[in-house]
Amino acid sequence: MDILNSIAEAVGNTPLIRLDRINQEKQHTLLAKCEFMNPGGSVKDRIAFYMVEQAEKSGQLKPGQLIVEATGGNTGIGLALAAKLTGHKLVTVMSEKVGKEKVHLMQVLGAETVVVPVGKAIDDPDHFINQGRRIAKERDAWYVNQFNNSDNLDAHYKFTGPEIWKQTDGTVDVFVAGIGTGGTLCGAGRFLKEQKPSVKLVLADPLGSMLADWHNRTEPHPAPYLVEGIGGDFVAGNVNMDMIDAAIHIDDKTSIETAHDLLEKEGIFGGSSSGCVVAAAMRFCQMHKEQPLTVVAVLPDTGRLYMDTIFSDDWLATRLKTGK
Ligand SMILES: Cc1ncc(COP(=O)(O)O)c(C=O)c1O
Repeated sequence: MDILNSIAEAVGNTPLIRLDRINQEKQHTLLAKCEFMNPGGSVKDRIAFYMVEQAEKSGQLKPGQLIVEATGGNTGIGLALAAKLTGHKLVTVMSEKVGKEKVHLMQVLGAETVVVPVGKAIDDPDHFINQGRRIAKERDAWYVNQFNNSDNLDAHYKFTGPEIWKQTDGTVDVFVAGIGTGGTLCGAGRFLKEQKPSVKLVLADPLGSMLADWHNRTEPHPAPYLVEGIGGDFVAGNVNMDMIDAAIHIDDKTSIETAHDLLEKEGIFGGSSSGCVVAAAMRFCQMHKEQPLTVVAVLPDTGRLYMDTIFSDDWLATRLKTGK
């Protein structure tokens, strides 16, 4: 019988799809790891279910205890599902940058949401991560701490990496992802490099984020950007910059156009970070024409979370022009 015991078992084992229509560099094989096909619509379901499971096992999370997390949105959505299944209440803390659709979805899934001002520095007590930590303390909750929690990395090391290795029969040469917490790129990336040390890890970073500059040792030019969930002005504890082989900046317009292209040419409906990652993968392919490469790009979440933003003509007409 092919019956799952709970929605938790439906997380992961996402398809890997050949992007032959959008790919211009035909000597390379460009593949999309379709994380938007997880139950909550993003890659973050993997870490949400795994971190809760491990915290329950270790006793860090007590039966019925409140869970608090600072999130770019998708971890909150995954945690809301995991919390329902395990009988916990959830508070999510995020900045105003998180799209209204994501906030609404978290609420529908039962989370209490706290939205705080955007643009605070990481050492400012009002930064959403510091607010999350404070709320967790005040309410005697388990603070998930995805930016530093090693179970985030482990979820990708144990599952995402091996899936890609198996799906490509070990032919993967390049792994491209964005960094929010670093879990995907550094967790899955470590597994892939252990199997095949020549595998290159490529960071797709929105222009305006400082991560690519720190990696490339170039002068950072921090600026607001529209792509959600990746990049930033601090390096999370789960990020190991030394593992990353290349970092590519992609501007908002290119990320958003690429997300639209993915839909138009491939019928794949991803969010803004999917556009950023695929654009970076294609840029990497253009820059490395010496030999054929198998390139895996992570598509972190579904375009359904961006119907009022990057897939709205009104929003595009105003926001893309101003970049705010
Ligand atoms: C939309 C989106 N894309 C990509 C990522 C990055 O994933 P990770 O946290 O594994 O670096 C996140 C998470 O922060 C996200 O919300």
